[in-house]
Amino acid sequence: MAETREHWGSHIGFILAAAGSAIGLGNIWKFPYVAGKNGGAAFILIYLISVFFIGISLVIAEILIGRKSQLNPVGAYRKLLKGHRGWTLVGYLGVFTGFIILSYYNVVAGWSVGYFIEGVRGSVLSFTSSEEAADFFNHQIMNPAWIIGYQAIFSILVLAVVYFGVAGGIERISRILMPVFLGILLILVGWGISLEGSREGLSFLLKPNWESVNGRTVLEALGQAFFSLSLGMGALLTYGSYLNKDDSILSSSIMIAFLDTLIALLAGVAIFTSVFAMGFSPDTGPGLVFCVLPAVFSKMPGGYAFGLLFFLLLTIAALTSAISLLEVITSYFVDEKKWTRHRVVLGAGLIVFLVGIPSALSFGPMRHVTVFKRTFFDFLDFLSSNILLPLGGLLMALFVGWYVKKTSILEEFRKGAGGWVDTHVLHPVKQIRHKTAFLTIGNVWFFVVKYLAPVVILLVFLYSIGILS
Ligand code: PHE
Repeated sequence: MAETREHWGSHIGFILAAAGSAIGLGNIWKFPYVAGKNGGAAFILIYLISVFFIGISLVIAEILIGRKSQLNPVGAYRKLLKGHRGWTLVGYLGVFTGFIILSYYNVVAGWSVGYFIEGVRGSVLSFTSSEEAADFFNHQIMNPAWIIGYQAIFSILVLAVVYFGVAGGIERISRILMPVFLGILLILVGWGISLEGSREGLSFLLKPNWESVNGRTVLEALGQAFFSLSLGMGALLTYGSYLNKDDSILSSSIMIAFLDTLIALLAGVAIFTSVFAMGFSPDTGPGLVFCVLPAVFSKMPGGYAFGLLFFLLLTIAALTSAISLLEVITSYFVDEKKWTRHRVVLGAGLIVFLVGIPSALSFGPMRHVTVFKRTFFDFLDFLSSNILLPLGGLLMALFVGWYVKKTSILEEFRKGAGGWVDTHVLHPVKQIRHKTAFLTIGNVWFFVVKYLAPVVILLVFLYSIGILS
């Protein structure tokens, strides 16, 4: 019920929690290698344009649906469009997507926990070559006890946070972990840049190579923006539902997108400066973080401590994203089924863990079991990132742009707008100007959500399912 619904204790708490959701494995592990593969700076520029023109608008739309309805994704769609029951399916799609993503996200996050713990025990960060590091990685991911064990440890961490609720669990942990995260990342960036030979890494990341850019790159940049911003499955919607009415959605969304983008760029700098400085070649995909980096750290002075910090960083990033995924499921059962939070967290947590086991085993005993020609892990990743998220985002944009009354949407958009600029301190003429400017921003935003975003997402979607490729 709305009056007993939990809320964030502070505006900054919300920003940190939502930024924590956005900043995850997608930023630190995926962004650098995708950027590297797609022409470095050229890709980054297209990525920035995607975030700016499409991403931010959808972040606003998703948070807005949440705050307006004060409900979980299913309840939100039902409440905002009485009589059109079909739209609640979009909410169910979100909860289902959260479930799927969390099941395999826990697995990769588990590797990260494993590397941190093994690092502390001294067995991971002391390789002499990248081959040795790769051998270790390949050996570990074949070992069910190792994989499932660390998956379980990470899952318990996620449960423990969500168990204590929105302000007492998620907000509290985000307020502690996000500054720690930023501190660690800045240390790693500073250290990376200070290494001799780091320039090569920087130019790899910053020198545009327009030759490798084509239509596909553009679509890949947009897809990455989507995943990285946690868009399209209701995580931001759910977090938005705990947002107070006097907080500005516009400024919060810009802040969240800015932090997410900044962290991706910084992670790219930290990783590529070290990789190049140590004479390694940039690998692709999971290999870069789990095979090459441990070898890089082993080779360099002080590398052991920095290696530990790196895997702690990766674990924190994954944790604050995973809790947002579990919170979507939790809010659904709490709102719709009236279950207690504790019961949902324990029940859903256990089921998500069990569903994740085939993904965990996809690298070992179950590597020959395929679904649509993919291992279980790859299939779930493909299904959620390339189909379910774009679909959820597209439907959400259509919902806000075409089905809910524009006036009521813009009214919600304006609530808390004082947080954008403190209008009271302005001269009356300036106040009017400020108001007009804000109305214009609202209209431009609405246009993007109504026309631009659906068309662009449709293109990404068609590309993802292979029609255009
Ligand atoms: N944004 C997260 C990342 O970059 C992943 C995520 C997607 C989290 C969707 C929540 C919802 O890793």
